Amino acid sequence: MLTAGSVFREIYADDRAYQLFCSIAASGEDQGGWENERIASLVRDRELAPKIARHGADERKHGRIFDRLMRKRGVGPVDVPDDADYCMLLERQGIGLIHERLKDDRPLTDRDVITYLVHSRVTEQRASEDMRLMVRVFGDDPEIGRAVRMISADEDNHLAYCHEELLRLSAAGHGGYIRELLRRTAKAEIRTHRGVGLAVMRRMGEILGWPSWKRGLLAAGVYGLWLYEEAYGWRRMVELRMPEPRMRNAMAPARADGRQAGGDGFALVGEVT
Ligand SMILES: [Fe+2]
Ligand SMILES: [Fe+2]
Repeated sequence: MLTAGSVFREIYADDRAYQLFCSIAASGEDQGGWENERIASLVRDRELAPKIARHGADERKHGRIFDRLMRKRGVGPVDVPDDADYCMLLERQGIGLIHERLKDDRPLTDRDVITYLVHSRVTEQRASEDMRLMVRVFGDDPEIGRAVRMISADEDNHLAYCHEELLRLSAAGHGGYIRELLRRTAKAEIRTHRGVGLAVMRRMGEILGWPSWKRGLLAAGVYGLWLYEEAYGWRRMVELRMPEPRMRNAMAPARADGRQAGGDGFALVGEVT
């Protein structure tokens, strides 16, 4: 049966498909890491800055993990096709802080910080859901199970942090602007996710030699999800809810559970660190 899990397993079993998948993932994570590092250095809020830095360190770590997974298979990164470059496509639509702004050394305004947090709120929702799916499919895999479980837990923390910070800023009087921006960002993300999904499936179909019926079915699946999200699913991306107590203050630099930012904390199977 054709399911998301069966498609992921097929990609995982093929070196070239796996190489492209890991390259796209590593590049997106690394991009997120760089953005967070820049934002952390430009933000004036001294309490928020270390949390953003930690967010950046986590994303850099994810980039390294995907890179190592790929090299362990004996392949190196390939270029990410433009139509599969989720971060760049969002930026081109003016979603999140544009790179020109991040390269500038002027401190960020409150609205800039809200733009960053709203972009993260929406994209971390996607990351958290994608990684939960990966955990369902590969959570017990001896080669990548541990890595996907770790990244998934981090993405849940990032999402919780965005909820918490945006609720704080809403309480400080920014609620109307945040709501409007969340809606605009979610709509753009949903459109972009559809385009990227189609682009990735098209390339995977070429690499794996999928017959046209299979390509058609998978494209229909991407459209089906898009229709659902346009009509109804977008709501889950714009609501703000206080995380449960154990998830609060998830990006604090020193946490009681001793989780370290950016430290990989484990070795991939068969790898000497
Ligand atoms: Fe990540
Ligand atoms: Fe994340």
